[in-house]
Amino acid sequence: MQPFRYHVFVCDQRKPEGLPCCAARGSAAVIEALRRELATQDLLDAVQVTTCGSLGLCERGPNLVVYPDGIWYSGVGAADVPEIVREHFQNGRPVERLLNRDGAAVKREITENRSRMVAALKAREAAGVLPDELLGMIRGYQESRILLTAIELDVFTAVERRAGQATATAIATELQTDARATGMLLNALVALGLLTKLANTFANAPAARRFFVAGTPDDARMALRHNLSLWATWSTLTQCVREGHVVRNREMQERGDDWTTPFIAAMHRNAALRAPLMVKAVGAEGVRRLLDVGGGSGAYSIAFAGANPALHADVFDLATVVPIATRHIAEAGLGDRVGTRVGDLRKDALGSDYDLVLLSAICHMLAAHENRDLLRRAFQALAPGGRLVIQDHIMNADKTGPRAGALFAINMLVGTAGGGTYSEDEYAQWLREAGFAQVRRVALPGPNDLVVAQRP
Ligand SMILES: C[S@@+](CC[C@H](N)C(=O)[O-])C[C@H]1O[C@@H](n2cnc3c(N)ncnc32)[C@H](O)[C@@H]1O
Repeated sequence: MQPFRYHVFVCDQRKPEGLPCCAARGSAAVIEALRRELATQDLLDAVQVTTCGSLGLCERGPNLVVYPDGIWYSGVGAADVPEIVREHFQNGRPVERLLNRDGAAVKREITENRSRMVAALKAREAAGVLPDELLGMIRGYQESRILLTAIELDVFTAVERRAGQATATAIATELQTDARATGMLLNALVALGLLTKLANTFANAPAARRFFVAGTPDDARMALRHNLSLWATWSTLTQCVREGHVVRNREMQERGDDWTTPFIAAMHRNAALRAPLMVKAVGAEGVRRLLDVGGGSGAYSIAFAGANPALHADVFDLATVVPIATRHIAEAGLGDRVGTRVGDLRKDALGSDYDLVLLSAICHMLAAHENRDLLRRAFQALAPGGRLVIQDHIMNADKTGPRAGALFAINMLVGTAGGGTYSEDEYAQWLREAGFAQVRRVALPGPNDLVVAQRP
């Protein structure tokens, strides 16, 4: 079987710093150039590119192998790619100056490298060196904190604004920060691949320019600033575990705009992506009235209203959040069918005669007894035959997985009075207790699933 004319394996192996590997020698740029050039030369359907682990010629990377020819290229740079694509993939003539001719020599080199690698691993094992994955886990805070500080200071916007003249001194002047410290931060951002540096002038790498610069279409800075709030709460984890309760508890309504605006921006970014998936999975047909409890930015109500012109929705949230929802609803041009209601989902009656009640990313904020109570009130809010949709992390019975949900439970431990992540059995039991029937789980892409139930 040969589904493609050519299948190219490009080594993208990253090894600990200081060891030769294709990633350290620029394989990412080669892969990007390859994909770009194949598109330009209209060969995407003929040539399949697969990134792979070590091909064994580590000192001479970036390496790639082309099948069915069995051609091994070494020392390939991004600048070589147009020639390879044109000559080899378009005209069937391998690029002589880059290929390895001597198969026996290649095999010998790979075998020697493998033996050296095995010996080095044994030596590390014998010396009790911490495995890289463990070290990476322990030091993960360093990369996170560098990027968060850069976002907090709006470094990437400053670099873009000073394009061509973004020295450390210029950026420090713009940000009103210390020049020496700013230089160190900028250098670290280069090491992380978020900036580039040429003759003391910094520039944004493509991903930083796309997501971290003011005014770009995919500007994610506001949503990402929510992580600054989370950094503060996560830093209390040890104390939380010692004492068994949240250390810095402030109810949502007591948190200022500094907290609320990035939080709802983060929710909105996620919701805008997931709302079409939910609408597709749940269906908007036949829904006259929708109640979006803790609806945040209103993204789900907006998506349902967009899918059914007869549908009216109410976004129920705190007084501090409802103005943000109102803005999103107005921007979507749905002010006549999507309304807002200020209330407290922990205690208020939720209304009546709804066909659909959404609890998206709500149950994890609450303790089990609060969820039981909320589900009873959601039941009351539904018309007979109406449906309740819960979207959240749905855990396995022992709560050790999925991984994202087990980590998110900690987010709730440090940030809420009684929140956590709950299992499918827990949801099913609470729903039946509240009177619901036809409880079923609906899998969605990503870390959250749905639990759907019906009021008989
Ligand atoms: C995690 S967000 C989810 C937002 C939205 N449902 C979504 O999925 O994007 C939780 C929402 O619940 C709201 N909320 C928190 N406590 C509340 C309360 N006591 N009463 C009403 N809404 C509340 C928050 O303001 C926020 O909009």
